[in-house]
Amino acid sequence: MRVDNTPYRSIWADVAARQAFVIDQTLLPHRFVVRPLQSLTDAEEAIRAMRVRGAPLIGVTAAYGVALAMASDPSEAALEQAVNRLAATRPTAVNLSHALERMRTRLLALPAAGRIAGAWAEAERLAEEDLRLNRAIGEHGLVLLRVLHQRFGRSINVLTHCNAGWLATVDYGTALAPLYLAHDAGIPLQVWVCETRPRNQGLLTAWELQQHGVPHTVIVDNAAGHFIARGKIDIVLVGADRVTRRGDVCNKIGTYLRALAARHHGVPFYVAVPSPTIDWAVDDGMAHIPIEERDGAELRRMTGVDAAGATSTVSLLPETTPVANPGFDVTPAEFVSGLITERGVIAANEAELTALFPQSCAPAK
Ligand code: MRU
Repeated sequence: MRVDNTPYRSIWADVAARQAFVIDQTLLPHRFVVRPLQSLTDAEEAIRAMRVRGAPLIGVTAAYGVALAMASDPSEAALEQAVNRLAATRPTAVNLSHALERMRTRLLALPAAGRIAGAWAEAERLAEEDLRLNRAIGEHGLVLLRVLHQRFGRSINVLTHCNAGWLATVDYGTALAPLYLAHDAGIPLQVWVCETRPRNQGLLTAWELQQHGVPHTVIVDNAAGHFIARGKIDIVLVGADRVTRRGDVCNKIGTYLRALAARHHGVPFYVAVPSPTIDWAVDDGMAHIPIEERDGAELRRMTGVDAAGATSTVSLLPETTPVANPGFDVTPAEFVSGLITERGVIAANEAELTALFPQSCAPAK
């Protein structure tokens, strides 16, 4: 996608120089800063500090993290250590373990001498695949938006939560991919963007949409039910960090409340899901998906830009106030109108998921 008319991806590599580059998302929307990743530690830190975030991008960054580790030591021990360190960075998005398992299997099959080139090639392949999957999700989601536009004959109101745009992937995004394609196809849209406290990923969504010229309005999280109840929303479209075999959806905290409100008011609730986000080994999302518990400082403090343009952090709560800060929640499959995958739009249930991805199924827990 474009930033001030220059094409960018959220991550890219200079393979010859053994470096990857990412956009530091902790500084957006106020500052656009590109950071190099030159070591395994850099990749680990970028994921932990959420300089990169979003399930697909976390997976691809980890793949480059393995490549960076191999560049300094291509031994089997170093490979195992890199995979373990990266796997421990964030627990919820399953794309991370998918990417790491793929790197591990591919590299273990190579002699140490071939692992440096092999690792960079595999990381590049994962990045290209992510882009292809998201583009296909965009095409399938576009059909849904076109049908809504034909039915209503006016601008389509889409509510989204968190950031499932190109910043959360290598390019295009998952939930936002259909919106970009629809906008480019001349389908008028109004996107209602939930702020997504406490990390405010909605502000990244607003920034992306503004860069692409898609009309949008940011709302506080608590306003989503109000707009859904007033008939202002035609479709809710979100991404996912992990989808279970039976179609339960784990996504950014607050997604569940939007799904409940959408169901109550008869508004379709769709989830964009590239196949690396499906965890075939898990059936019951509530019981078996690890939910990241994040630092309470995210609630107690807020960072922004002051009138002089300087970044500043203020305290909202005494440091001693007890807080709980779960990063994700699980929306049971029954509240999901459909999953938009790279192979098409299906109902959120085991029969449709396994029929669409017959090679990937494994026994569930
Ligand atoms: O904590 P984050 O910002 O990594 O969480 C991101 C989300 O929950 C996204 O909605 C999800 O990863 C889908 S992104 C294509």
